[in-house]
Amino acid sequence: MAGGGGGPVLLLFYFFSFYLAFSNALIISSEIGINYGRLGSNLPSAFQSIQIIQSMNVSRVKLYDANPEILKLLSGTKIHVAIMVPNHAIISIASNQSIANKWVQDNVLQYLPDTKIRFILVGNEVLSYVSEQEKIIWHNLVPAMRRIKNSLKAKKIQNIKIGAPLAMDILEITLPPSKGSFRCDISSTVIVPLLKFLNGTKSFFFIDVYPYFPWSANPSITSLDMALFKPNQNYTDPYTGFVYTNLLDQMLDSVIFAMTKLGFPDVRLSISETGWPNAGDIDQPGANIYNAATYNRNVVKRMTAKPAIGTPARPGEVIPTFIFSLYDENQKGGPGTERHWGLLNGNGAPIYDIDLTGNRLETEYGPLPNPNNNKPYKGKLWCVAARGADLMDLARALRYACSQGNGTCDALGIGKECYEPVSVLWHASYAFSSYWAQFRSQGADCYFNGLAEQTTTNPSHGSCTFPSVTI
Ligand SMILES: *[C@@H]1O[C@H](CO)[C@@H](O)[C@H](O)[C@H]1NC(C)=O
Ligand SMILES: *[C@@H]1O[C@H](CO)[C@@H](O)[C@H](O)[C@H]1NC(C)=O
Ligand SMILES: *[C@@H]1O[C@H](CO)[C@@H](O)[C@H](O)[C@H]1NC(C)=O
Ligand SMILES: *[C@@H]1O[C@H](CO)[C@@H](O)[C@H](O)[C@H]1NC(C)=O
Ligand SMILES: *[C@@H]1O[C@H](CO)[C@@H](O)[C@H](O)[C@H]1NC(C)=O
Repeated sequence: MAGGGGGPVLLLFYFFSFYLAFSNALIISSEIGINYGRLGSNLPSAFQSIQIIQSMNVSRVKLYDANPEILKLLSGTKIHVAIMVPNHAIISIASNQSIANKWVQDNVLQYLPDTKIRFILVGNEVLSYVSEQEKIIWHNLVPAMRRIKNSLKAKKIQNIKIGAPLAMDILEITLPPSKGSFRCDISSTVIVPLLKFLNGTKSFFFIDVYPYFPWSANPSITSLDMALFKPNQNYTDPYTGFVYTNLLDQMLDSVIFAMTKLGFPDVRLSISETGWPNAGDIDQPGANIYNAATYNRNVVKRMTAKPAIGTPARPGEVIPTFIFSLYDENQKGGPGTERHWGLLNGNGAPIYDIDLTGNRLETEYGPLPNPNNNKPYKGKLWCVAARGADLMDLARALRYACSQGNGTCDALGIGKECYEPVSVLWHASYAFSSYWAQFRSQGADCYFNGLAEQTTTNPSHGSCTFPSVTI
């Protein structure tokens, strides 16, 4: 190459333009990624997890932090990596360029190029948090992204995109998709600067999008078939005439129309999370293995299709997609579904068969267990102590439940109708039911850190009536 002259220089030029085009194409390849969340007590080690991820032929992995052990283990693999700036670091990074530089040095630069970090995601669904304290983070989100961009630019790193994964609650209107619009409390103050940054850096609008949620909130209105990509039904947007064959496309297009309304019609989408729970509580319809396998297999097939399918508003567009999640994570709070988004259970065994390359035909999968909870449960529910719960833990939870609400445990007083039998198990079950009956409408779960579970069997006996929830 040292000889000079037109030939080699031209060759070099072609080589580089090919290289650039190629590396750009890799960034927007249609291969499937996976979210590697680690809120489980018994998960396979990081080393085993990376082996599992490789054996699944996943091309991208998204982490919820920048765990040093995992980033080292990923070095030398072909896997592209999305790391996350934790929510609590956003304000300080936004405030000071040297803090941003240090974060990038410690969590990104020291792993390059052996670990193929390709996305830095700033915060997790930060616009879903609405306390006054948390709102301070909103206004630091884009400034933090700019700081990180500056840090990368100073080191001449161009192949890392910066984004901010957000949940669908950033929209106040999603239907019809053409009426999609952002919440007015964030639209001009946060979303416009964000879109400007993403457009200017040719990055992606990362959105966590779960058809499971709108479907399960209204199973009688939304069709399960459309949520699961079954081709029996269509929805036509009355304003655009676009025909939707599935709920995911409707949700994605509502984001696209909302962006377009703010003057950014071209910012590309990436699905930072999507999936379907393989199990859940009795009051959570449709959370089962059949639906989870069907949804995730169909998402993979659709997102890896060549040529790309896109959505009615963006036909042919590649939408890089991360499935949520690698494992069931038993340390997450909230309703039962929260602990059951995994393709694998907490020990690393597959819950159902899925080919993340999208090559396997539907007919090449074995049969799935029939779904038995697609119709919402109707009737009474109680919340009782879970089998095998530790008695000391139960005693603590019992005290907590009784301290909440109005007369929650009055019936457990000495000589009162539910006092006997005098056992922690019995008293806790009563307290959980009484607590849940008062607070379910305000979003309380029957969980108590795994100490409680829902039951359809009335535990009342004699003169003691357990409060119940009717759904
Ligand atoms: C993963 O890739 C390897 C090597 O390319 C291939 O042999 C194997 O069949 C693939 N596995 C799946 C599940 O597609
Ligand atoms: C930014 O942070 C650095 C390192 O923590 C500190 O030395 C510097 O004073 C800070 N600058 C400002 C303007 O706060
Ligand atoms: C978005 O980026 C494109 C291409 O870089 C540019 O032409 C356009 O003006 C930008 N849009 C806005 C609203 O800033
Ligand atoms: C739904 O729309 C698609 C695409 O326009 C069409 O091929 C299909 O026949 C329609 N299905 C039904 C049930 O209307
Ligand atoms: C508690 O319950 C009693 C009896 O049902 C009622 O009179 C009272 O207003 C309640 N107090 C609160 C704070 O809800």
